Amino acid sequence: MKAAIISQFGDPDVFKIEDIEKPIVNSDQVLINVNAVSVNPIDWKQRKGNHKYILGSPFPIILGYDVSGVVEEIGSEISKFNKGDIVFGVLDNKYGGALAEFAVGHEKCFTLKPEKISFENAAAVPMVSLTCLQAFRDKVNLNAGQTVLINGASGGVGHVAIQIAQIMGAKVIAVASSKSKEFVEQFKPDSFVDYTENNILKLDKKVDVFFDVAGKYSFPKTKHLLNPGGIYLNPNYINSIIKMPFNKFYQLFSNGKKAKTFMMKHNNSDLDIIAQWIDEGKLKIFIDKTFDLEQITEAHEYSQKGHNKGKNIIVIANTPQDM
Ligand SMILES: NC(=O)c1ccc[n+]([C@@H]2O[C@H](COP(=O)([O-])OP(=O)(O)OC[C@H]3O[C@@H](n4cnc5c(N)ncnc54)[C@H](OP(=O)(O)O)[C@@H]3O)[C@@H](O)[C@H]2O)c1
Repeated sequence: MKAAIISQFGDPDVFKIEDIEKPIVNSDQVLINVNAVSVNPIDWKQRKGNHKYILGSPFPIILGYDVSGVVEEIGSEISKFNKGDIVFGVLDNKYGGALAEFAVGHEKCFTLKPEKISFENAAAVPMVSLTCLQAFRDKVNLNAGQTVLINGASGGVGHVAIQIAQIMGAKVIAVASSKSKEFVEQFKPDSFVDYTENNILKLDKKVDVFFDVAGKYSFPKTKHLLNPGGIYLNPNYINSIIKMPFNKFYQLFSNGKKAKTFMMKHNNSDLDIIAQWIDEGKLKIFIDKTFDLEQITEAHEYSQKGHNKGKNIIVIANTPQDM
């Protein structure tokens, strides 16, 4: 099968397109004929080798987690899917493995693709949507009427965070640059703040959750903006874990305010909730740019700049387009 592989960590030009063996499907796995993949910051962080001390260097590595496609083969223990099912999800292999014509993952990684969206759009959905759903529901217990500030509201996570916070009945202050204002305002946040014109730390409003998607601030710097019991939430897991002992110390003098981080979990019941929101028209995922597999270097260069509006997609297109 055709795959984008890396044989060393480095810049976006380390990718090579090669013909390699199809992955072997274990009894508890599903093999997907991949149609589309989306780029997440974790992909380019891993390409640079940022996680090599945790995940090792098992070259050749195939990156990419978010995927949509058609079930090609199922292991003997699989009960939820059949060959031919059209699915989307997040792969659970160490480094993903989505940037290829075929990819494997466990059953918990996938659910059926909502009919009304394309393969490309479906590949854009899973990681960012699971992140926002699980962060708001499980990590900060977001309640209707509470206020969430989303710093980095125009990117992959941010534009979904606005919509999921609204589904949960929260009020949203969306922060992004002036270039992203029009894009962000289509989601009708309660207010928009342009970080190029305003110092967010001098905002004259208090919030229940400061969701620092862009990871530009810290708990000590933002805690004056939090209501009593409020939470500074940073999705940049590894950096946040390193700072946790320091934040725990600050929490002792912070009126019940807390710093939290989290890691998205594979869960196909949560993917079903997300698919239902898409079917009901409550959640829309936006695609900024679409690339072919051969343009993977350009796709990573663009995504790594960190100013996309919505998501970037790689089309693998091994699946018949009329499905
Ligand atoms: N823990 C998890 O499970 C998990 C899951 C998914 C993602 N993440 C992490 O979440 C982070 C964001 O991911 P993403 O997919 O949303 O990235 P992205 O699509 O690249 O979006 C980046 C966003 O940051 C904004 N931004 C850039 N500079 C900024 C600044 N100085 N102040 C405020 N906003 C700024 C950009 O807006 P402008 O273009 O308007 O500047 C853009 O909206 C990454 O670190 C990623 O690794 C974690």
